[in-house]
Amino acid sequence: MNSKYECMELNDGHFIPILGFGTYAPNEVPKSQATEATKLAIDAGFRHIDAAYMYRNEEEVGLAIRSKIADGTVKREDIFYTSKLPSTCLKPEMVRPCLEESLKKLQLDYVDLYIIHFPVPMKPGENFAPLEENGKYALDEVDLCDTWEALEKCKDAGLTKSIGVSNFNRRQLEKILNKPGLKYKPVCNQVECHPYLNQSKLLDFCKSKGIVLVAYGVLGTQRYKPWVDEKSPFLLDDPVLGAMAKKYNRTAALISIRYLLQRGIVVLAKSFNENRIKENMQTSRQRSLEEVIDEKQTKNSQLRQDWKSAKLRENIFF
Ligand SMILES: NC(=O)c1ccc[n+]([C@@H]2O[C@H](COP(=O)([O-])OP(=O)(O)OC[C@H]3O[C@@H](n4cnc5c(N)ncnc54)[C@H](OP(=O)(O)O)[C@@H]3O)[C@@H](O)[C@H]2O)c1
Repeated sequence: MNSKYECMELNDGHFIPILGFGTYAPNEVPKSQATEATKLAIDAGFRHIDAAYMYRNEEEVGLAIRSKIADGTVKREDIFYTSKLPSTCLKPEMVRPCLEESLKKLQLDYVDLYIIHFPVPMKPGENFAPLEENGKYALDEVDLCDTWEALEKCKDAGLTKSIGVSNFNRRQLEKILNKPGLKYKPVCNQVECHPYLNQSKLLDFCKSKGIVLVAYGVLGTQRYKPWVDEKSPFLLDDPVLGAMAKKYNRTAALISIRYLLQRGIVVLAKSFNENRIKENMQTSRQRSLEEVIDEKQTKNSQLRQDWKSAKLRENIFF
């Protein structure tokens, strides 16, 4: 990894760029947009790219990365690429084949980070959120410690440089950390985190264990209808963020990103718009905020906006 890009050291000795580019878009958005946006992001200076098997966009994102390698903009080792193991593939024997399928789509030899996408095993199949006849999610019986051992083997086989988790609470993290014979600790826990959901307790716990917290939904999430309460306030319209944006002559988006970076959190920011991609990259060059955001002044400090909210929470025990 080129030292020009600000990075954080992971507990296995690898480095993660502190600002990452999110590539998820709902199914209605043509997948080709992920290729164009990822190329623009690399041109703008992003070196950390976040995608997932479940986003069904790894062919397109891989194409963008390879084309930016081919035109000389970057080398493979300059890019930090994250993929994620879907909930339907948590059975240990499914882990390596699933990662190999991602690599085949990406046409890359390895990923930099492979993480368990969601700590709730679901029945295998094409549908990533399968339902039973009664409308409840079709859950599966898998011990996450067995899944973790399969991830450790993928790291040993060189298919991924680092391994981690996503959407884990403290109890689920402890289960892995306390696993007898643990070979590698998770390097990160990727969770929803922004001024409306500060994750202070989880952040303290992760820091105490040497686990990096990676934040998604930092710009208010994509407010995907099945997952978000449409009546919930829109983060980037928050008056506290607005006042700070005015004071620092930045946008609310840049204040939200900087606020998290200052707390030692790695930030993902998604945009498929060229100007906003360039705008978000500016954060890496901006000086720190003098004050912290007082979350009590923002509309809410415990407001989940993404997929842990609403329908999923009714069905699954968080
Ligand atoms: N592990 C998980 O379970 C999980 C869950 C959700 C997301 N993620 C990852 O995290 C990434 C980011 O999270 P997210 O997709 O929820 O979105 P986000 O980063 O919170 O962005 C939300 C929206 O903000 C808009 N935006 C971007 N830059 C902006 C700016 N400077 N000013 C105003 N608006 C701006 C974007 O729209 P435009 O495209 O129109 O600019 C985008 O759709 C995802 O893409 C994915 O890679 C992971």
